[in-house]
Amino acid sequence: MKLVFWKKSGGAAGQVDFNRLPRHIAIILDGNGRWAKRRGLPRTAGHKVGAETFRTIATYCRDIGLEYLTVYAFSTENWKRPKDEVETIMVLLKRYLLEAIETMERDNVRLRFMGDLLALNDELKALVAECNAISDRLTGCQCNICINYGGRAELVHAAQSFAEDCIAGSVKPGDLTEDIFEKYLYSAGIPSPDLLIRPGGELRLSNFLLWQCAYAEFYLTDVLWPDFSKEELHKAIAAYQSRNRRYGAVT
Ligand code: IPE
Ligand code: IPE
Ligand code: MG
Repeated sequence: MKLVFWKKSGGAAGQVDFNRLPRHIAIILDGNGRWAKRRGLPRTAGHKVGAETFRTIATYCRDIGLEYLTVYAFSTENWKRPKDEVETIMVLLKRYLLEAIETMERDNVRLRFMGDLLALNDELKALVAECNAISDRLTGCQCNICINYGGRAELVHAAQSFAEDCIAGSVKPGDLTEDIFEKYLYSAGIPSPDLLIRPGGELRLSNFLLWQCAYAEFYLTDVLWPDFSKEELHKAIAAYQSRNRRYGAVT
């Protein structure tokens, strides 16, 4: 059994049991702007470093055998940001997708995209389609990237799709169950996150995976995303492993 130890600042050592990893970790990639501001840099510099941190953490998650990683990269609300910041994020996304197309087969990493992708430019849409086609042939770790994602928008989209199926006659309103509703979500077929990590110090969901996080364990840290490290991931996993998940029952 492989264990990783570290010394907590105040005393006892923590540990990760790699045989009891969560199946699915979701991360809100937050704090890029403040990371840059603290260094007197433009916010876009924070996004560039944040993209590197994402590569490092995603690769590490694959290496330790995580089944599902979901990252919140751009929300339905993030379009409100200055044009140059949005453009930089889209350029970084393009760069990442081009790189993924070259490497995902070798690394056996599947990519899936969650969100309203129709709002992306044609070039990004084509790259997403190419990543999806490659992913269909692969079996390894799945990385879900949430772009133009909003939890509320996802629920509305699911309700619309269900209503359309009702009108088409393939299903009846009274037949709807939680399991059937899940099939209409962007996350259809993906188990709910076990562990939700939010770096950046904010204590909110910011419209992320509202349905799916019903019983996720939260790990919130002040560490800003560009500074997030494998050690911080170990802390989050160890915290998760120390929790008692009762799902409303008594243990
Ligand atoms: C997260 O970092 C990245 C995106 C939302 C795209 P932020 O840009 O929100 O960074 P802060 O929260 O302003 O520091
Ligand atoms: C959440 O971060 C969205 C992403 C990380 C993509 P925000 O920075 O947009 O959230 P708020 O504005 O602090 O709630
Ligand atoms: Mg933020």
